[in-house]
Amino acid sequence: MAEITIPSELSEKLRTAKKVVALTGAGISAESGLATFRDAQTGLWAKYRPEELATPQAFIDNPELVWNWYAWRRELAGQAKPNPGHAALVEMAAKVPEFLLVTQNIDGLHQQAGSRHVIELHGNIHRTKRFDDNQIVTEWEETGEVPPRCPATNSLLRPDVVWFGENLPPGALAQAAIAAAECDIFFSIGTSSVVFPAAGLIGETLRNGGLTVEINPGETPHSSAVSFVLRGPAGSVLPALVQQTWP
Ligand code: OAD
Repeated sequence: MAEITIPSELSEKLRTAKKVVALTGAGISAESGLATFRDAQTGLWAKYRPEELATPQAFIDNPELVWNWYAWRRELAGQAKPNPGHAALVEMAAKVPEFLLVTQNIDGLHQQAGSRHVIELHGNIHRTKRFDDNQIVTEWEETGEVPPRCPATNSLLRPDVVWFGENLPPGALAQAAIAAAECDIFFSIGTSSVVFPAAGLIGETLRNGGLTVEINPGETPHSSAVSFVLRGPAGSVLPALVQQTWP
């Protein structure tokens, strides 16, 4: 692949930025081997119907199917390793005075790469909670029943992820929105930017005159509005950005 050249104006702004926010989506984990949702052919939503797998009603209708689908994805996420894109964000966090990483991903790869203080807008597939009251459960007996049940209340268990029609974790969105409004630079990385409220965060930065950067091999609804578009895979663009900004 040809060398990626980062605009020097962007590197200069990043070197002096005090507050930076990075929002990531499924695209940053694509090079770790995890499928995105909306890429034609390879995206999960090209093969599966979200309303049958990722809504509370889907779980009520067919808890076994939903549990098994997430168990399959949990296994894939568990086997995946962070890629150079995740690693570059760890490096960037160490260079910027105030850096906030906000992710829509549930795979835990940012933390595995070494990122601290990650706001997980859509939960984490490695955590499990009760369907009845959303309390986290860490231990249960494997009786063969699918999904398993909470040993204390008998509630069915489900992954601690946000499904369509559900609210985001309390506080997470508010914290991300404040950071987006206050930041000098907002990076939108590997997200199609069509799922709200996450897709609206960049608007906070745009409204306040902050710099906005899109890192994505393809177009998004924000491409024409952002200050810089870096076209290419995050696993190559992010390391180039960090390397050329802090050589
Ligand atoms: P999408 O699948 O909608 O978008 C993935 C984006 O990653 C696309 O814009 C691709 O062009 C881009 N992409 C692909 N390969 C890439 C690479 N190597 N480097 C950088 N970008 C790459 O995924 P999200 O935007 O994360 O929510 O989807 C948002 C939400 O919709 C998900 O969190 C999930 C989904 O339904 C829920 O399940 C609630």
